[in-house]
Amino acid sequence: MAYETIIVETRGKVGLITLNRPQALNALNSALLNEVNQALDAFEADPQIGCIVITGSEKAFAAGADIKEMASLTYPQIYLDNQFSGWERVAGRRKPMIAAVAGFALGGGCEFAMMCDFIIAADNAKFGQPEIKLGVMPGMGGTQRLTRLIGKAKAMEMCLTGRMMGAEEAERSGLVARVVPLADLIPETMRTAQTIASMSLPIAMMTKETINRADEVSLSEGIRFERRVFHAMFATADQKEGMAAFVEKRAAEFKDQ
Ligand code: HXC
Repeated sequence: MAYETIIVETRGKVGLITLNRPQALNALNSALLNEVNQALDAFEADPQIGCIVITGSEKAFAAGADIKEMASLTYPQIYLDNQFSGWERVAGRRKPMIAAVAGFALGGGCEFAMMCDFIIAADNAKFGQPEIKLGVMPGMGGTQRLTRLIGKAKAMEMCLTGRMMGAEEAERSGLVARVVPLADLIPETMRTAQTIASMSLPIAMMTKETINRADEVSLSEGIRFERRVFHAMFATADQKEGMAAFVEKRAAEFKDQ
């Protein structure tokens, strides 16, 4: 499959997607969105892939939705085309997905990173929702996901001023899981992804699904969901293998079954 706006690689059990529109700081146009979804379709269909990593360049993860593509759209056009609905498919993926962010993650770029299960940031990462400066607001989930991740006060401040947040503040605020030196970003994220991919795939996917329920339901319903899924895990061979391996003091060999 030849892609024009992304580079797609498989490294062991990890699928790596590198956003590749350097001339536009990886601005997210519709071609890129389509290609990201094609690559994700392929990774999700491939039973060998246990984790997906999305990254950009050292200068920019992505500087937002493509402003030049959007600028002249009318309301009926943007409404009828249902622009950006493809991002719901990105956010709805079932396999674990990590964003490795260096440089700018602005607007839709920050929102894309937040659609992943967690973010590992390089120390030069800069996050922001600057849409207000363009006369709009976040439109790919930013008002909701940023608020859930960093709380109302900071989300309001970020979205109303459009200011950027550095990596250290982003980690302190709960936006990113971990900050690493720029040179370590890809090796460290790939190591983390390989660790996840070495687990049982169905168990990792059920864990992701269950954590994501926390954003949708009350505590008691979330705990009920967790209990049901936890019990269901005892129907897998991998639960038997994982616990037997512990008892026998050996490494588990998961079969994704
Ligand atoms: C289209 C973009 C772009 C974008 C950068 N470029 N961001 N093109 N859409 N979002 C292009 C520039 O036009 C320029 O192209 C080239 O990339 C390099 O950018 P420069 O501005 O020259 O680089 P620099 O001076 O280093 O500044 C970097 C920057 C700045 C601070 C990141 O580019 C910037 O502010 N970008 C816009 C950030 C933003 O507002 N994002 C939110 C977008 S709205 P040329 O051809 O001139 O060399 C959004 C809405 C999401 O994301 C919700 C949708 C539903």
